[in-house]
Amino acid sequence: MQAFKRTILALSLVAAPAFAQVSVTIDAAHPGAVINKNVYGQFAEHLGTGIYEGMWVGPGSKIPNTKGWRNDVVGALKNLHVPLVRWPGGCFADEYHWKDGTGPRGKRPVKVNTNWGGVEESNAVGTHEFFDLVEMLGADAYVNGNLGSGTPQEMSEWIEYMTSDSKSTLADLRRKNGREKPFKVAYFAIGNEAWGCGGNMTPEYYTSLYKHYKSFLKAPDATRPKFIASGGNDNDTHWTDVISRDAAHQTDGISFHYYTIPTGKWEGKGAATGFSEADWMATLANTLKIDTYISNNVAKLDKNDPQKKIGLFVDEWGTWYDVEKGTNAGFLFQQNTMRDAVVAALNFNIFHAHADRVRMTNIAQMVNVLQAMIITDKDKMILTPTYHAYRMYVPFQDAASLPVALSNNVAYSVGATSIPGVSASAARGKDGKLWLALVNTNAGQPVDVALDVAGQKIAGVSGQLLTADAMDAHNTFQQTGAVKPVPFGARAVGGKLSLKLPAKAVVVVAVESQP
Ligand code: AHR
Repeated sequence: MQAFKRTILALSLVAAPAFAQVSVTIDAAHPGAVINKNVYGQFAEHLGTGIYEGMWVGPGSKIPNTKGWRNDVVGALKNLHVPLVRWPGGCFADEYHWKDGTGPRGKRPVKVNTNWGGVEESNAVGTHEFFDLVEMLGADAYVNGNLGSGTPQEMSEWIEYMTSDSKSTLADLRRKNGREKPFKVAYFAIGNEAWGCGGNMTPEYYTSLYKHYKSFLKAPDATRPKFIASGGNDNDTHWTDVISRDAAHQTDGISFHYYTIPTGKWEGKGAATGFSEADWMATLANTLKIDTYISNNVAKLDKNDPQKKIGLFVDEWGTWYDVEKGTNAGFLFQQNTMRDAVVAALNFNIFHAHADRVRMTNIAQMVNVLQAMIITDKDKMILTPTYHAYRMYVPFQDAASLPVALSNNVAYSVGATSIPGVSASAARGKDGKLWLALVNTNAGQPVDVALDVAGQKIAGVSGQLLTADAMDAHNTFQQTGAVKPVPFGARAVGGKLSLKLPAKAVVVVAVESQP
C-alpha cells in the first residue's frame, strides 16, 4: 500500500505537461446551498433478495444477526452513514397492506409479490422490523404509503399506529406489538409512480387523490412526517408542474425517478459486464441527462413555488441493466462495476449542483437489487464499487456547496457521442475542511488537472482514488478487493497544484491551503 501511495504521489507531482490541462477553480468564499445529507439516501424494496436474504435473515438464522438483520450488512451500511432509508417500495408499496406486517411473525398472512417474480411474501419484515433496521443504522425512516390499492382509512390508520402517543386502540396495538413510544417517521410518500405501476393515473387525477388522502393523514406535531407526492420521471415535467401548482400547500416534496439504461430501451437494456467502450460512453451520456431533467423540473417548481418550500426528491435513480443470466428476471439482480462507481459520482456532482431543490435522493437499491451497495451470497457479502463511491463522498453530507469553475475541459468522445472529460464538485464540510470530488469519465486516457482555490495558495490535497484497469472491473466472492479505494495525494509546487487522474477514476480529496 505504501509503495502504491508513493507512486500515486509521484504521478500527481509531475510538472504541468505541454498539452492542455483542465483548470478547476474553487470559489471558497461564496458557499451555496447545503447538500442535504439525505441526498445520500437509500431505497430498500420487497424485491428479490434485496430484503429477505440480503439483509433480513430472521433471528433464528445461523448468519449472525441482530433482531433478524445481518450484522455484516448492517455494519457495512453504518460505514456509509446512511442518512435515510425508503421502504417498502416502489411498485410493492401500492399493493402493501401494513397490518399484514404486524403481530406475531408466525401468524402473518403470506401474500404473493405480484410485481417482483410472483414469489411468496411472508410479511416477516413489517413496520417494527423496518424501524429496527433504521434505528440500528442511525438513519431516518421514509415510509411509502399505498395509494394504489389501499384506502384513505388504511393509510391514516398506519400513520396513527406509527405516530400516536395517545391511548387509542391503534397506539395500544403498537404497544402490544412491542413498541411503547411512537416511531419517528421523517417522510411519508402518498403512492409511487402513479403514472405506471401505482395506478396508471394522469397527474391531474393523482393530484386530486393526493389531496384527498392527505386530508386524513393526521399526526401530532412532534411526530408529524413530511409528506411527499409521487411525481414524474425521465424528461417529463408535467407531473411536477401540476402537483406544485394544485397541491403547493400540501406537500413538502415531489418525487422524480430516472434510471440510467445503456441502450435507453427497456427491451435490451445492455449488459452489466463485458460491454464495449461505446456502451460505457452511452451509459455515461445517458446518466448525465439527469442534469437537464432536474433543471426542467426545478423550472416548474420555481414558477409555482418561488419560495422554495417544495423539494425535488429523486427517490429512485441508478443503473438498470439486463438481469444476470440464470437469475429470476423479477429479482433485478445485476453485477456492479467500475462503470457504476463513475455513474454514482457523476450523479452526486449533479445533485450537489442542484442542492437548493434536490434535498433527498434514494439510489435503487441498497442490497442485491439494481445498482446495489452490497451483494450477498448466503453468509458471504461483497462491497460493490458503488459502495466505495458512497463511502468516499461521506464528507459531502450536510456540507455547504461551493462554486467550481472548469475551463479548458477536454471532451471525451466515442463515435459520435461526446461528454465532458472531467466532472467536479466542491463543498465546505461539516468538519471545516474543503472537499473536492473529481471524475475522469475517459475509459482509456488519464487527464491532467490544474487546481486553484480563488484567493488562496494551495498547499496540497489528500484523500482517496477509485479506479481499475478494466471498465467492467468488479468485486467477486473470490476477489472481494478487486475494486477498492487507495490513498491519493499531491503537494503544490510554487503554489500550483497539478493532479493526474487515471482513466475512469473517481477522486475525493481534502484541499489544504497555505497559512
Ligand atoms: O426499483 C425498481 C422499481 O422501479 C420500483 O419498484 C418502481 O418504483 C420503479 O419502476
